[in-house]
Amino acid sequence: MIDLRSDTVTKPTPEMRQAMARAEVGDDVFGEDPTVNLLQEKVAGLLGKEEALLVTSGTQGNQVSILTSCLPGSEVIVEQESHIFLNEAGAAAALAGVQLCPVQGERGALTAEGIRAVIREEDIHHPRSSLICLENTHNFAGGAIIPLERMQEVYRLGLEQGIPVHLDGARLFNAAVATGIPVKEYARNALTVQICLSKGLAAPVGSVIAGPRGWVADARRWRKRLGGGMRQAGIIAAAGLVALDTMVDRLAEDHARARFLAEQLAEMPGVELDPSTVETNIVIITLKKMAAAEFVEEMRKLGVLIISINSRKVRFTTHKDVSRAGVEQAVAAARQVLR
Ligand SMILES: Cc1ncc(COP(=O)(O)O)c(C=O)c1O
Repeated sequence: MIDLRSDTVTKPTPEMRQAMARAEVGDDVFGEDPTVNLLQEKVAGLLGKEEALLVTSGTQGNQVSILTSCLPGSEVIVEQESHIFLNEAGAAAALAGVQLCPVQGERGALTAEGIRAVIREEDIHHPRSSLICLENTHNFAGGAIIPLERMQEVYRLGLEQGIPVHLDGARLFNAAVATGIPVKEYARNALTVQICLSKGLAAPVGSVIAGPRGWVADARRWRKRLGGGMRQAGIIAAAGLVALDTMVDRLAEDHARARFLAEQLAEMPGVELDPSTVETNIVIITLKKMAAAEFVEEMRKLGVLIISINSRKVRFTTHKDVSRAGVEQAVAAARQVLR
């Protein structure tokens, strides 16, 4: 099977498995796991933040961030197709008791103007605007890179209004590799950041959140409350360290394959896609003549796994475990199904 459902299906590399087997460990709830501490220091350094904290998943990282930054009954401004809004099972409402305010972005990018329009005035009738969340790259906008200038304008607005910015950087390294702009530059425009180790970077488990020292101390308590204190987590962190050392630069290959896939798909009948919008490892097409579920099923019969986003849209995600030949096979299958 050619599995293009998600970059989360990537398997750990042999080097990761060796590092996991050899990892020096301790009880991380006591802060005594040297490998976890090393990973946290490394990520804090890469992102230019005071401290960082290993969490179980991207969702837990985003939710611990919201819990740490927001009071119940306050409002969090999010992009309307963001992962936090669409794909975290209502966690922000269920766990943090916050209300999400979805705003339409331009290919996933919120603008200062769009945010300014929804920031609440001080009034006892209103929830307080407590956090702005950005997502870079933006998953459901087809892996779109949020331009640095956009992040800067949003961050400036946040400073002016006293509203912190959280960056869901599940795929921030994809943005950095595609643009050549270091992750630190993006992270500079957010108070807190979440990065995933287990997507294109291929670690088996884990995300890291980062921010100011006092914030991370509070986040540690929220992580514990959610059951995310993981004891000898150095086994996981060891793979994360290998991921950061060996898997970042190769994301460029995934991007080239996604672009190739997009160019081929765009030529097929009934497909709506501008291949020039494909900047990283995600390709989302709109089907004009076939239901997404039917297309997914026909592709599966030909040995290619993809996912539907809604009744007309499907997503292909490239990653290290699908070679150029695998992508060519996916192209041939799509051509056959859409003939
Ligand atoms: C942009 C974005 N944020 C957060 C997540 C959540 O990550 P996890 O699946 O590790 O909870 C994902 C997962 O696909 C994502 O695409």
